[in-house]
Amino acid sequence: MRTGGSDPIREASRLLAECRNAVALTGAGISVESGIPSFRGAQGMWAKYDPMEYATLHAFMQSPRKVWEMLTEMVSVCGEAMPNAAHKGLAALEEMGVVRSVITQNVDGLHQAAGSRRVIEYHGNMEELICVYCWKRYPTRERWTPGAVPLCDCGEILKPNVVLFGEPIPWLAQEQAEEEARTCGVLVVIGTSAQVSPACDIPRIAKESGAAIVEINPEPTRLTSSITDIHLPWGGSEILAWMVDLVRRGSGVSPSGEG
Ligand code: APR
Repeated sequence: MRTGGSDPIREASRLLAECRNAVALTGAGISVESGIPSFRGAQGMWAKYDPMEYATLHAFMQSPRKVWEMLTEMVSVCGEAMPNAAHKGLAALEEMGVVRSVITQNVDGLHQAAGSRRVIEYHGNMEELICVYCWKRYPTRERWTPGAVPLCDCGEILKPNVVLFGEPIPWLAQEQAEEEARTCGVLVVIGTSAQVSPACDIPRIAKESGAAIVEINPEPTRLTSSITDIHLPWGGSEILAWMVDLVRRGSGVSPSGEG
């Protein structure tokens, strides 16, 4: 991993500005500053809910009411969250023709709320409910009320249209994500621990296809010492706002306007 010399942020911004063919891969960390807890780590959802009991398809089929205890918290916190400067920064970089698409593991819809147009939802989205018996779908806001378990017209308990452990990635999302990884010049990886497959393979696919890997995460991950070219060890909001400013200024100038 290169640290990008004395100014890794400027180096990463220069890469983006010159390449103009970047893709972003995001995880729960990008939404932490919007008030949505991440999954791992001491404050993560999985510290409170054992994912094997609350986040597998098997657990949902066995005890849907129990799984809805966790899902109720996720639907509520996602419903109240607003995009932060990191989400908005990616939308601005898309507007500038620098970032081509966002592949997100998140189910909170905040990239679209920030104005990103090309978003590949790798793990689905909380804004839709689906019946795992008759496959009927409903907007969450029309069928879900806090504290109640939403039911399908067929009488079965509905599930958010998100990918639980043990479920396949939506075929089109997987195809599109891998194509984006194979054809981008820079992959910007923001706020993921890169521990969950197959999403964690996307950086490897990009690297093997010749892309530079820029990682934004306060903590090092399994990518940092293996395939990351530039690691920016800070929070997403602060960094994306700074990078947008540098790219907009043609990356020759620091935010303070000095040369
Ligand atoms: N900015 C950037 N990164 C951050 C920030 C921040 N402000 N705060 C935390 N992070 C980093 C953490 O250091 C951690 O590496 O975000 C990462 C979050 O990792 P996880 O909680 O493991 O989330 P994620 O990688 O998205 O999980 C992948 O696992 O549980 C399943 O389906 C779920 O999509 C999820 C998948």
